[in-house]
Amino acid sequence: MAWVSLCELGVLVEGRGKYVEIEGYQLAVFLDGGEAYVIDNRCPHAGGSLAVGDVEDGRAVCRWHQWAFGLKSGELKGRPLVRIRTYRTRLLDRAGKTVLVQAELPTY
Ligand code: FES
Repeated sequence: MAWVSLCELGVLVEGRGKYVEIEGYQLAVFLDGGEAYVIDNRCPHAGGSLAVGDVEDGRAVCRWHQWAFGLKSGELKGRPLVRIRTYRTRLLDRAGKTVLVQAELPTY
């Protein structure tokens, strides 16, 4: 596992997603309630991009058919056995520079 910088905190918009492709991962980064979250971007239903969806009640909602995944748990609303991968996330405050959003990604 390694902490990887994904984007500057300042580019995130509350309740919206941002797509980030890095080190072979396709990720959706969200800002919800001032907290950053990172989940897999690909919706397991039919491959929609979760990063282009919005956040409702702490869930990323896929625009294609409205499946909603918890930003913390990755669980599908109403069907918790269906889940997407979530990643530990942290903010890197670099003393006078922009704050970075980082995720802990597995290294293979
Ligand atoms: S592709 Fe995401 S809900 Fe259908």
